[in-house]
Amino acid sequence: MIINNFLFPHALLMLNFDYAIPTKIFFWKWKINVLSTEAKKLWKRTLLVYGQWSIKKNWIYDSVIAELTKGEIEIFELSWIQANPLIGTVKKGITIAKENNIDFVLAVGGGSVIDVAKAIAAWFFYEGDLRDMFLGKVPVGDALPIASILTLSATWSEMDAGSVITNPDTEEKLFISDSVLYPKFSILDPTYTYSVPKTQTAAWVADIMSHVFEQYFSNTPWTFLTDRMAEAILNTCRKYGETAISDPENYNARANIMRASSWALNGFLSCGRDTDRATHIIEHELSAIYDITHGVGLAILTPHRMEYVLDENNVDKFVDLAVNVRDITNDWNKMQIAKQAIEETRKFFDSLWLPSRLQEVWIDWARLEEMASKATASGEIWNFKRLDKDEVLAILKNSL
Ligand code: NZQ
Ligand code: ZN
Repeated sequence: MIINNFLFPHALLMLNFDYAIPTKIFFWKWKINVLSTEAKKLWKRTLLVYGQWSIKKNWIYDSVIAELTKGEIEIFELSWIQANPLIGTVKKGITIAKENNIDFVLAVGGGSVIDVAKAIAAWFFYEGDLRDMFLGKVPVGDALPIASILTLSATWSEMDAGSVITNPDTEEKLFISDSVLYPKFSILDPTYTYSVPKTQTAAWVADIMSHVFEQYFSNTPWTFLTDRMAEAILNTCRKYGETAISDPENYNARANIMRASSWALNGFLSCGRDTDRATHIIEHELSAIYDITHGVGLAILTPHRMEYVLDENNVDKFVDLAVNVRDITNDWNKMQIAKQAIEETRKFFDSLWLPSRLQEVWIDWARLEEMASKATASGEIWNFKRLDKDEVLAILKNSL
């Protein structure tokens, strides 16, 4: 996705944008055979990147190996990628890739695995300090091609150019994004997500909803089309989130959530509007230090942040959420309706058994101030209602 918003001299128009996604998507039940044909067309030696247990417990690993063998692709492996992946893991992958002269990286997993594949691809041709590239001091330039097979769909990494890697020395999540990092193709088979446990599925739904909220809650006017699309994605999470948890092998629930995940963050909703990443910026501080699940952190922070930013200027957006997503119809005043929408959002996360307080994930007050400082190190965060350090700290305290 390439988005380029140019602000008009007066802000009463939808913003201009450019939009393109080069990743080819194969969204089909049992379409793994496309792997050998697609890979064979392009490459000969792969670094296969995957997580800890899951793809060996279900049948995905065996299928991937069989397909790559069929396509006469030589395989080298980097396994045990953990959630919130570390910079050291990426370095290990680069060493294997260089020693074996690989020509593409294949990620089989969720966001963490795909993000590691992208970071390896980005750093493969680069000899300098890896952190400089993450800090944006050095452009990515050339990169190895990557492809992905998705087994947990939450982050949209399968269709975007971004990668999030944790630096344990500084306890921060580093973000890199460059158009050369789009996967060449991604295979999305909802049956691959049947084995995702209830807790991860719930976190996945919260992550998708947070991605939507960060675009939906925008000050740009005249975004009727994408507002209604955002609501459709939120309604999809509402309709199928609980089903995917209670009935994990329900194909249509898994398929709809998978599609919701891609559409939540494939850039379409952002076209023509200012967006906001404040909840993600704050959550990255939590998961960088405490290694909590990304979606869990978002589920805790989201209602608290909504409560904090709600005011008379933005109340109409919350009323839209109340009426079009939460089915709230009563004759209360706007502010009461808005507060009810936030409460219903919280109740929805509760219904998925997600935590609603930081203390439930063993985070206390000790490092809140430090996290608020780091989150605002580059200035106030972001557009919908700009938050300075004290305001971020207040949201964190409210979330305890
Ligand atoms: O390691 P295994 O055994 O494979 O288990 C994984 C892992 O423990 C498990 N899992 C994955 N597929 C499974 C499965 N378990 C059973 N059956 C399956 N089919 O799920 C656990 C979590 O996986 P992970 O990849 O960490 O989850 P997710 O996709 O939520 O990725 C989170 C990471 O993405 C980053 C987050 O910060 C976090 O580091 N993000 C990346 C973004 C991007 N690239 O643009 C944006 C996001 O907002 C996010 O920040
Ligand atoms: Zn996210």
